[in-house]
Order: sequence, then structure tokens, then C-alpha cells
Amino acid sequence: MTFGIGRPMHGGLNSSEPRSLGLRHEDVLDFSISVNPLGPSPLVIKAANNANLATYPDTDCVQLRSAIGRELSAAPDSILVGNGSTELIHLLARAFLKEDDSAFIFTPTFSEYKAACRLQGVAPVALSPDGRQFQWDVQAAIDAISQVKPALSFLCNPNNPTGVYLRADEVFEIAAALRDIGLLVLDEAYLSFVEKRWDSLELLTMPNVILLRSMTKDYALTGLRLGYMLATEDVVGHVKQYQYSWSVNGPAQAAGIAAISDGLHLEQGIEAVRIGKEYLAEVADLLSLDYAPSSANFLTLKVGRATEIRRRLLTNHSVCVRDCTSFGLPEYVRIGIRSMDDNRKLVHALTKVLQDR
Ligand SMILES: Cc1ncc(COP(=O)(O)O)c(C=O)c1O
Repeated sequence: MTFGIGRPMHGGLNSSEPRSLGLRHEDVLDFSISVNPLGPSPLVIKAANNANLATYPDTDCVQLRSAIGRELSAAPDSILVGNGSTELIHLLARAFLKEDDSAFIFTPTFSEYKAACRLQGVAPVALSPDGRQFQWDVQAAIDAISQVKPALSFLCNPNNPTGVYLRADEVFEIAAALRDIGLLVLDEAYLSFVEKRWDSLELLTMPNVILLRSMTKDYALTGLRLGYMLATEDVVGHVKQYQYSWSVNGPAQAAGIAAISDGLHLEQGIEAVRIGKEYLAEVADLLSLDYAPSSANFLTLKVGRATEIRRRLLTNHSVCVRDCTSFGLPEYVRIGIRSMDDNRKLVHALTKVLQDR
């Protein structure tokens, strides 16, 4: 008997890898995750530090849901907070997928969707890009949906790792195609960093749409874990039954409220990303490296043998990038935008590694 479906692959460094290379974890510049280059706001750090560790957290996250609701003009009952949006992805699969159901995923993309479906005994059907800079053929998606009839579909917008950002009319068409079939989970983990974004909240007029948002990227709460979903009250109520009590800890709830109150910090982080991404794109052009235009806070570059390039960057330069081989893109690395000082160090290291190929 075999157990398990294999763990999903992610960016970020576990401490064993740098240790095995004789590196100190804290010395490694980590571009393999994509978070606000400014880190968390000072208000967030203060709020998390002041949280009472000796009481149980509010299982309903009342104050945080009110703060999110005020920020988005959404009803608190349409919001469910999770221990990172990853928890919500798994809760959604558990709540809405049975073994005989189908699921649909726009790929290449974040690996937790597939993992969550597989844990329910469902192998999701994947739609790959049609070749144009990782763009999907929306009509092909709609045709596939009418055949597959998925109970649950995952679409990441902007997409990890390609940075592709679908227009409003495209997402509305996909959601409409699913209307009498199943739920569309629109994962907007990187939405804050999109420069020209459309208002996806309007999608919530369709009862089969669930918006998923992470607070770990824009607010740099990666270690604290925080995310939320927006959906009908019925969907929220159903998913909540699958969530274990106290899954969102007290410091995370306090930090989330403080993060929302510090809009200026977020704006400054977004501006730092804009400048850094422009710089990296210029360098990629100079180095004749292909990349797809990215609407998110990362750039995915075609460098050749990605696993080898990542290894050399880490071993020789203490710089970590995300090898995209696990996404089915063995020639690409994904680079999360950091401060300009760090971005310059990455460019220096990457130039050397590419020269030595
Ligand atoms: C597309 C996407 N969705 C969700 C997540 C998970 O975010 P969280 O930290 O909120 O669990 C990630 C993390 O990398 C991601 O890339």
C-alpha cells in the first residue's frame, strides 16, 4: 500500500538546504518568494507583539473581518479568514469536492490547487497556455469546462508563476460558463501589485464565484499566515464548518487589522516593486533573456537549465531564486522583486552565472 500524493513544491528556503551547503540561512538573499520588499509595516510588528498570547484567538475573527469589510465595502458575513490562503484552498476542496467530481485548473500554476484536489481523490483536468506568452485560450477553457463539468475550478489572476493577468471580460466569461456547473475560485494572491487592475468584487454578483486573497504577499505576513475569501454567505458558512477552531492565531488577527490601517506602507511597497520590476526587465532585455510581461511582483525569466542556474546562484552567490521546473517550466526561474540594493546583487550574480555557463 502506498500513502501520500507527494508534497507540493514551493519557493522559500528550508534551513536544511543552506546548512548542507555551508551557508548561513540569514545570509541568503531569497528571491524565491514574492513579498512586499519593505517587509511588514512597523504598525503590524507592534500589533503582533502586543497581542495576548495567553488567550484563545477569536474563532470568528470578528474585528479583522470588519476591518476587511470596511476596506472593501463588503459584508463581514461574506468573508472567511484563513491561516494563509493555502488553508482556504484546502478547505474549499474538502467542502466542495467528492471523489466522483471533476476539477479544473488553469496551468502552470500554484501547486496547492492540485494537491488539495488530489487529497479529495480527484485528479484535476489542466488547461495549458496556447503558446502566446503563457496566455490561455479562453474559448478553449470554456469548451473544456462544458465537457469536464468541474465542481471546482481554480484560476490564479495574476497567475503564479507566469504573471499573466486576465481581463474582466475573460474572467466573467469563464465564471458564466461555470454558472450552472460549479464554483470558480479566483485566486488573487498577487492582486495588490497589479498596476492596472479591474474591480473583481463585481464578480461576486455571480453566486458561483469565490475570491481568494492572501495577506502574506502585499503585507509581508508570510511567517504569520493570513488570507481570506469572499463569497456568498452560504458558501462562507459551508466552508467554515470544515475549519478547525482557532486556526487563525491572535497575533495574525491583530497584525491583519494593523496592516489594513497602514495603506501608505502598502503603497510604498507597491512602488518599490514597480521600480524593481522595471529595472529587472531592462536587465533581462540587455542580457537577451526572454520573459513574459508580468502583472505580479515577480518576473519569470528564461535562463536555460533552471535547476543548474538556481544551484549555482545559491552555492556561489548566496542568492536563491525559484526554479520553475516543478511548474513544468525547466528553463525558467521566477524572481520575486526585492529592494533595489538586493535586486542589483541578484543581477550581478545572475550575470556571472550566465557568463560561466
Ligand atoms: C497563487 C498563490 N496563492 C496562494 C498562495 C498562498 O498564500 P498564503 O501565504 O496566503 O497561504 C501562494 C503562495 O505562494 C500563491 O502563490
